[in-house]
Amino acid sequence: MRKGVRTTGFLRELRLASNDVDMAEYPFCLPAVTRLAQLDGLPLAPGVTFFVGENGSGKSTLVEALAVAVGMNPEGGSQNYRFTTRSTESVLGDYLVVKWGIDKPRSRFFLRAESYYNVATQTERLGPDQLAVFGGVSPHERSHGESFVDLMRLRFFPNGLYLLDEPEAALSPRGCMTVLALLSDLTAQGCQFVVATHSPILLALPGATIYEIAEDGDIDEVTYDQALPVRLTRDFLAEPDRYLRHLIDGE
Ligand SMILES: Nc1ncnc2c1ncn2[C@@H]1O[C@H](COP(=O)(O)OP(=O)(O)OP(=O)(O)O)[C@@H](O)[C@H]1O
Ligand SMILES: [Mg+2]
Repeated sequence: MRKGVRTTGFLRELRLASNDVDMAEYPFCLPAVTRLAQLDGLPLAPGVTFFVGENGSGKSTLVEALAVAVGMNPEGGSQNYRFTTRSTESVLGDYLVVKWGIDKPRSRFFLRAESYYNVATQTERLGPDQLAVFGGVSPHERSHGESFVDLMRLRFFPNGLYLLDEPEAALSPRGCMTVLALLSDLTAQGCQFVVATHSPILLALPGATIYEIAEDGDIDEVTYDQALPVRLTRDFLAEPDRYLRHLIDGE
C-alpha cells in the first residue's frame, strides 16, 4: 500500500441479514447467496475486490445488491442517476448489511456493461454540466469501449467508490490493459473497487483480492493462478487444438 493511501476501505465487509426471508425464493435460493447468509461477513479489500465465477453463479446479483445497499441506482450510474427503464433488480440489496469504514467516498459510480447505453442517455438528459464531466462529448458519440475508458478517466475521481460489472464486456485486450492501469492508478489515489469479471487481464492487478464463487456457492479467496478464468484461458491458449477436438469434434 502506497504512502497516504487508506489501509481500510470505505466498505469493509458485507453480510446478509436473512432472519425473515424465505431462503427457497430467488435471490436467496442462489447457492452464493445461501452461502453468504451462512458467513459471518465477507471482508472487502481497501483497494480492489474481484468476484469471479461461471455464468449464472450470482456475481451480478451480488454487485447490483451492493449498489442498492450503498445508495446507487441498480441500473447503473451515480446517486444522481435515478432513472429506471425496466426494474429487474432483486430485493437482495434490502437485506445486505454493509460495514462502512471511517471515511466516506468522495464519489460513487456503478458501471454495468449491459445497461451502460441507458446511463449514456441519462447523462445527455442531465444536461451540459454532466456532459462537461465527460469532456463535453456524449458517451453515445464514442464507441462502447471508448466510453468505458472515458468514464474511468474523466468521471472516476480520487477517493471514490466504484462498482463495476464486467467492464471487459466492451474492451479489447489492449483496452483491458488500459483499464488495468487505471485501476492501479485510482487505487493508489484512494479509490475502492468491487468488480465482477471474467477477464484474466484485469485479474492480474497486483494486490487485488479475488473471490471465486464455486458451483455449490462457496465463496473462496483464490490466487491469480488459481482463478478459473486465468486457468481456463491459459490452458486453452496453450493447446487450442486439444480443446477444439473436444468441443467441436466431440472426441
Ligand atoms: N428475476 C429472476 N428470477 C429468478 N432467477 C433469476 C432472476 N434474475 C436472475 N436469475 C438467476 O440468477 C442466477 C444468477 O444470475 P447473475 O446475473 O447474478 O449471474 P452472473 O454470475 O452475473 O452471470 P454472468 O457471468 O453470466 O453475468 C442466474 O442463474 C439467473 O438465471
Ligand atoms: Mg453478470
